[in-house]
Amino acid sequence: MKTDIFDLTRKVALVTGATGLLGKQHCMALAESGASVVVADLNLGDCHHLAEELPGKNHLSLALDVTLPHSLRTGRNAILKKYSRLDVLVNNAAVNDKFESPALAAEQSRFENYPLEMWLRSLEVNVTGVFLASQIIGAGMAERGSGSIINVASTYGMVGPDQSLYLKPDGEQAFFKSPAYPATKGAVLNFTRYLAAYWGNCGVRVNALSPGGVENSQESWFVENYSRRTSLGRMAQPNDYKGAVVFLASDASAYMTGANLVVDGGWTAV
Ligand SMILES: NC(=O)c1ccc[n+]([C@@H]2O[C@H](COP(=O)([O-])OP(=O)(O)OC[C@H]3O[C@@H](n4cnc5c(N)ncnc54)[C@H](O)[C@@H]3O)[C@@H](O)[C@H]2O)c1
Repeated sequence: MKTDIFDLTRKVALVTGATGLLGKQHCMALAESGASVVVADLNLGDCHHLAEELPGKNHLSLALDVTLPHSLRTGRNAILKKYSRLDVLVNNAAVNDKFESPALAAEQSRFENYPLEMWLRSLEVNVTGVFLASQIIGAGMAERGSGSIINVASTYGMVGPDQSLYLKPDGEQAFFKSPAYPATKGAVLNFTRYLAAYWGNCGVRVNALSPGGVENSQESWFVENYSRRTSLGRMAQPNDYKGAVVFLASDASAYMTGANLVVDGGWTAV
């Protein structure tokens, strides 16, 4: 009989931040491989809408705020009520600073001016959110003796931002990539190693996925700057991470834990 080591049939997979640009693709990849997907994000209506678009019928939509323990506990109870188990947790939810006024963006995003509130909010969602979701929802996997946690990090968790990417053709700095996002993604990478070591003997694998920048209606000068800096000569498309997510979720990566799967078009190779 032919076996498929990427098959996720009978697996239940939760994606946080599921209705965002990449979360949708993670959900689609998991559903296409046979998983029942728990589509979890802040807005329940968006979750319902996405769950209906996925192949398969056994999905669940969940309003979930990863910064709130009671929201995570309610979500965990709903998952256990419907499926009695969870096999895959994709910690994908995150915030990435946006400065409202393009005219003031360079000034406000400058490290010397960077507001403490933005720093704290990034830590809360991107780091504490991963910690809480792993603790409250992941713990059941450790008790059951199997599971895969995928923490979505970033190239900026490994290297400092190249601020020249944000230089317009006329030499004006549009904005600076701010300090919180790289700090939080670096923290996610080492938290991944911590949890992999801690839960290794409980059968729970914990890996990070580090994507590179995704093309998403940015200004053409930015896409050109980014593409020039990338070995494969282009930004990622949102569906470029589907294979990596299925790989990390499935038995295809059975002997992999505490690792960082870098899918960045060669950005960090140079
Ligand atoms: N898009 C990129 O270029 C890129 C590159 C590298 C890494 N990443 C990482 O990939 C992941 C997804 O990024 P994206 O581009 O899809 O972002 P996105 O902003 O499109 O989606 C993020 C989602 O997280 C949700 N979210 C925010 N705060 C939340 C909270 N407190 N609780 C639950 N959900 C919350 C939002 O509602 C949103 O749907 C993030 O971890 C991001 O850092 C993205």
